[in-house]
Amino acid sequence: MESLLPVLFLGLLLLHHAGCSPLPDPVVCTRGTSNCTVSNTYGSFTDRTVCHAANVTYPSTEEELVAAVAAVASAKRKAKVATRHSHSIPKLACPGGSDGTIISTARLNRTVRIDVAKRLMTVESGVVLRDLITAAAEAGLSLPHSPYWYGLTIGGLLATGAHGSSLWGKGGAVHEYVVGLRIVTPAPASQGFAVVRELGADHPDLDAAKVSIGVLGVVSQVTLALQPLFKRSVTFVKRDDSDLANQAVVWGRLHEFGDMTWRPQEGKVLYRQDDRVDISSPGNGLNDLIIFRPRPTRGLIDARAAEERLQENGTDKAYCAAVRAQAATTEQLAYGFTNDGISFTGFPVVGYQHRIQASGTCLNGPEDGLLTSCTWDPRIRGSFYYNSGFSVALSKAPAFIADMQRLRDINPDAFCAGIDARVGVVLRYIKASSAYLGKPEDSIDFDVVFYRSHTEGEPRVHGDVVDEIEQIALLKYGGLPHWGKNRNFAFDGAIRKYPKAAEFLRMKERYDPDGIFSSEWSDQVLGISGSTNIVKKGCAVEGLCICSEDSHCAPDQGYFCRPGKVYTKARVCSFQPTGHAHPRSGIRG
Ligand SMILES: Cc1cc2nc3c(=O)[nH]c(=O)nc-3n(C[C@H](O)[C@H](O)[C@H](O)COP(=O)(O)OP(=O)(O)OC[C@H]3O[C@@H](n4cnc5c(N)ncnc54)[C@H](O)[C@@H]3O)c2cc1C
Ligand SMILES: *[C@@H]1O[C@H](CO)[C@@H](O)[C@H](O)[C@H]1NC(C)=O
Ligand SMILES: *[C@@H]1O[C@H](CO)[C@@H](O)[C@H](O)[C@H]1NC(C)=O
Ligand SMILES: *[C@@H]1O[C@H](CO)[C@@H](O)[C@H](O)[C@H]1NC(C)=O
Ligand SMILES: *[C@@H]1O[C@H](CO)[C@@H](O)[C@H](O)[C@H]1NC(C)=O
Repeated sequence: MESLLPVLFLGLLLLHHAGCSPLPDPVVCTRGTSNCTVSNTYGSFTDRTVCHAANVTYPSTEEELVAAVAAVASAKRKAKVATRHSHSIPKLACPGGSDGTIISTARLNRTVRIDVAKRLMTVESGVVLRDLITAAAEAGLSLPHSPYWYGLTIGGLLATGAHGSSLWGKGGAVHEYVVGLRIVTPAPASQGFAVVRELGADHPDLDAAKVSIGVLGVVSQVTLALQPLFKRSVTFVKRDDSDLANQAVVWGRLHEFGDMTWRPQEGKVLYRQDDRVDISSPGNGLNDLIIFRPRPTRGLIDARAAEERLQENGTDKAYCAAVRAQAATTEQLAYGFTNDGISFTGFPVVGYQHRIQASGTCLNGPEDGLLTSCTWDPRIRGSFYYNSGFSVALSKAPAFIADMQRLRDINPDAFCAGIDARVGVVLRYIKASSAYLGKPEDSIDFDVVFYRSHTEGEPRVHGDVVDEIEQIALLKYGGLPHWGKNRNFAFDGAIRKYPKAAEFLRMKERYDPDGIFSSEWSDQVLGISGSTNIVKKGCAVEGLCICSEDSHCAPDQGYFCRPGKVYTKARVCSFQPTGHAHPRSGIRG
């Protein structure tokens, strides 16, 4: 056990700044560009299957993209866009069936034009966020809000409604800053089977196309409304969580880039006090978030083994101790912030927007033969986890947080394994959107990353905690799952919570009447056919269903389908030690 403490789940102590093996291409083919499989950046979709496709194409110009769409549309073949790394956890990158065509945007990665006077930037859809914000800054411009990991592509992050955190102005979602799109859709033979549709800022179709989960066609180019380059001043303030339910509503109004990281077991919240400051303010700070830095693979493998031991044979006390030590280390390292790109001398850290808004140095090559990698690189047996992200309307967030606190108070240490273990619960703000698949109301997004077993059907320690919290958010408070995160059950019925869903489906019918860009998964998510739930033995352990009988859990290992502890309408796989000879029965509960 002693070896667990310093290594921990993130392998934190062995930071590394030089190279990093780039993440692999999610598309792998055995015969040139044919006979392919597609996965996500974790190498595993929620149902642990691999998708097959007949072939892949890598257009590098809009003309080539139009030709690719025309080819699939004329043959009525299924198609889907994959991106450089395809970060979405659900099966969004899979073409329908098993012999479709993958259209990769990996080579659609150029900046098309920047109009400094009008503060407009047009990029191809495969541009990686890192390159986008760098190019904007070189022109003296800023994208005001973005996800925190810059390895995503603009096309992919828009499709899933990705966001940073803000209640100010148009809010924290990137799609709010889209003022133009060029999207290639299937078309009748008379138009050559594919057309480019140009959607300007006032075009009514833009509300469907800017958050599309990839079912309308292929976005070729995106035009964003930027702002003059600015600086931010960041300070982290750690406080007791007793008034979080009230503070969560207030904080985002006080600070333009405010967010909160909550560790319920510890009873603490890290408030991010983050504001725009004058460009002349001194400081060249850098956000190089520790979790997105390259990590020696040896340390990642050891950390994973340590966590597997905790899961299988550990105690809650040992888990909590490991989590506490890790949190302390992260805090000592100022979460990865420095005042000048090299050393940390204290908060506030003041720096240019593009150096603060997002990070991800594990994305930067050169290839070092897997000596170092991103923590989740599927080629090594390192960190393997789920990521749930769901939003709750701002008006309901205090009640939701209070419910979480009630659950925590029943057994705080049960939160170490699932909630506190990695980053805690990250709370971020998103404003109501006109996008049909955007948030209908001002909301707080709750994000949590938690252990995933490599063994199908193997229960997580205190897995019922995360499961109950998600069901409280989604079922009791009408929460909405992030399109690019979550396990299957979170999407069941989600589309009915979108008031503009019918408008979106009408647009899909108009843009892609043959459903070329639709798949089994997108049809399930959009409520067109079937359910995202996969009901079978052990399904609730895998997050593929909400249990309704014990066999959906793991009764042979002592996990039974039981009501939630705070929300009794929830159904979770709960460990029942009595009468079970499983090794865990002696040490848990
Ligand atoms: C480490 C990490 C950190 C993250 N941080 C955040 C965060 O801070 N905030 C947040 O909101 N999310 C975050 N996410 C989630 C992320 O935003 C989504 O998973 C996002 O969709 C991934 O973008 P991608 O470029 O990898 O797209 P993919 O996952 O490859 O694609 C997503 C969907 O978009 C479609 N698509 C992609 N490009 C196009 C195009 N040009 N035209 C039409 N359809 C297209 C694809 O077919 C697919 O259906 C994070 C994910 C990871 C792995
Ligand atoms: C196609 O790929 C699969 C692996 O995905 C492989 O098993 C099979 O042999 C390949 N078929 C051909 C004809 O190359
Ligand atoms: C993919 O395979 C199909 C079926 O063999 C073929 O018609 C199509 O032209 C191929 N597309 C590409 C881009 O290779
Ligand atoms: C764009 O992609 C090509 C092909 O993968 C690559 O060689 C090039 O370096 C990329 N350009 C940028 C700006 O990333
Ligand atoms: C847990 O303990 C058992 C019995 O000692 C052992 O066989 C198993 O390998 C341990 N698991 C891990 C992950 O260390």
